[in-house]
Amino acid sequence: MSAASAVSPAVRPQSVPLYDLSRQRERMAAGIEARVSAVLKHGQFILGPEVAELEGRLAEYCGASHAIGVSSGRDALTMALMAMGVGEGDAVFVPGFTFSASAASIAPLGAVPVFVDVDERSFNLDPAAFEAAIAEVNAAGRLRPAAVMPVDLYGRPADYPAISAIAARHGVAVLADAAQSFGGALGNQQVGAMAPITATSFYPTKPLGAYGDGGAIFTQDDSLAEAVLQIRTHGRQGSGDEALRIGMTGRLDTIQAAVLLEKLDSFAWEIARRREIAAAYDEGLRDLVETPLMDGASSAWALYTIRVPERDRVRDALQAAGVGSGLFYRVPLHRHPAFVNWVPEGLSLPVSERLADEVLSLPIHADLNEDEVAYVIEQVRAAVA
Ligand SMILES: Cc1ncc(COP(=O)(O)O)c(C=O)c1O
Repeated sequence: MSAASAVSPAVRPQSVPLYDLSRQRERMAAGIEARVSAVLKHGQFILGPEVAELEGRLAEYCGASHAIGVSSGRDALTMALMAMGVGEGDAVFVPGFTFSASAASIAPLGAVPVFVDVDERSFNLDPAAFEAAIAEVNAAGRLRPAAVMPVDLYGRPADYPAISAIAARHGVAVLADAAQSFGGALGNQQVGAMAPITATSFYPTKPLGAYGDGGAIFTQDDSLAEAVLQIRTHGRQGSGDEALRIGMTGRLDTIQAAVLLEKLDSFAWEIARRREIAAAYDEGLRDLVETPLMDGASSAWALYTIRVPERDRVRDALQAAGVGSGLFYRVPLHRHPAFVNWVPEGLSLPVSERLADEVLSLPIHADLNEDEVAYVIEQVRAAVA
């Protein structure tokens, strides 16, 4: 595809929404309906055979020893932290620029989210800021630096090699928030296998999306996997009578697993198609706006996010031209009212604050056609110029 190619007037798109799941649904309708109706027939709506089948396929896809289907991405994070034994008196380092659920998964356990600034170009946790934050927590002496939660923002894996090395030096555990990045990779390591424990989301607009809420936890560690399996079913071991620990209603529905199994068949193709579109946007926009820098990382392209000054004016112009866009995120975490009790007075995270004013996400799903991609490029250029 030539990104610079003009949009032919005959096929000029009327509108290009940020998300459009209807085309994918049409493409997969027969397969999804067959899968769902099989569940309706066998009637095992909770932990039916499709859940185990999906878990096997997900583990194989990413190279994790264990994949465990759970109720949502946010629950996946909380259950992983519970399995890791994180609780009262523990500090969990989390980027200041992410979805609120990353930090919301920490606080109910009695642990304290410690907000850390992100890297200007990757949008992900800044390893140097993380190490400085560990030193501050140690100096204050109130909390134990227990865990770090790098977030793979927009689908691009965080700098796990650097973060894991720092974490190991300080005895801090690593939990990957890969809600947006299943399908991404660093070198030959897939998301799901690059941290000791990883949480992802199957929210409908995620790269691998269900038709409702869902998520998964990946780990290489047998004892963490056993703990997560107990936590997901009220703390019970299998169908045992006793609660061995405090658990949750954390299971993935069988119907969601059936939908995901069907979608998994074309997932690798969809990721490849998202990559083609990202490459076209790079080529068509990089001389004019700041396009995402991959530096060897391979994104799942949940979102394609540019940085533009006058972001709100550009967004309005795109909207007037029928091009959907998104603001992920307009408010950095340390400015959310919900987290006020955990934000030290005067905390400033300058990069997170700047990004919140400048980021703009463009449409990037696998069913966009070439004319729509060219149209988005044309309209962004017109809006920015
Ligand atoms: C970075 C991040 N973490 C956690 C979540 C929570 O996932 P869910 O909506 O499946 O609970 C999301 C979902 O949007 C997310 O983007």
